[in-house]
Amino acid sequence: MILSPSILSADFGILAEQIKKAENAGAEWLHIDVMDGHFVPNISFAMPVIKSIRKYTDMFFDVHLMIEKPERYIEEFIKSGADGVTFHVEATENVRECINLIKKYNKFAGISINPNTPVSEIKEYLDEVDMALVMSVEPGYGGQKYIDAVNDKIREIRAKKGADFFIEVDGGITKDNIDIAIEAGANVIVAGTSVFNDDIEGSVKELMR
Ligand code: DX5
Ligand code: ZN
Repeated sequence: MILSPSILSADFGILAEQIKKAENAGAEWLHIDVMDGHFVPNISFAMPVIKSIRKYTDMFFDVHLMIEKPERYIEEFIKSGADGVTFHVEATENVRECINLIKKYNKFAGISINPNTPVSEIKEYLDEVDMALVMSVEPGYGGQKYIDAVNDKIREIRAKKGADFFIEVDGGITKDNIDIAIEAGANVIVAGTSVFNDDIEGSVKELMR
């Protein structure tokens, strides 16, 4: 299982320092939430922040685009330092163009669905991407409660794709429910508020499996 701490809940004034703590504790991926105020009702940060932190770590940058028409910006995110780019099927009419842009740069491609979007919406693309991201909260904010109903969608994707596929779950993960998500079939676990708190190292260690 891969832990991908989400910097959305980090202290941006000391971001590099906090990322280092997560890395030193054993996290290999870093989840980077980009929000545009259109696809989701919140705005976070984008390329300048990614470029800045790229200098401080070799962690795998797992960039989660919560933006409308992601095809407009995918190349720029890759040039800013993304290793993987995940976009939402609900945000674009050009899903294949998004996948092809990511693949053109030999990067890791992820496709995401919101809690109310059925797996059938991404079914036809699952053989073309490296990862499916199943949102377990409505995207937009950290610190929300895990929606248990998404476990069935994780199971459905795992059953379709077999053991080697990456399935990421994002939102509301804590030490008390992480094993349920893994048991359903998730192998990449995002955690924001459960990691970026007063004890980043201890929290990472507590969540690693
Ligand atoms: C929500 C983001 C998440 C968020 C998770 O829209 O995509 O990655 O940071 O935060 P927690 O783990 O606090 O639910
Ligand atoms: Zn996210």
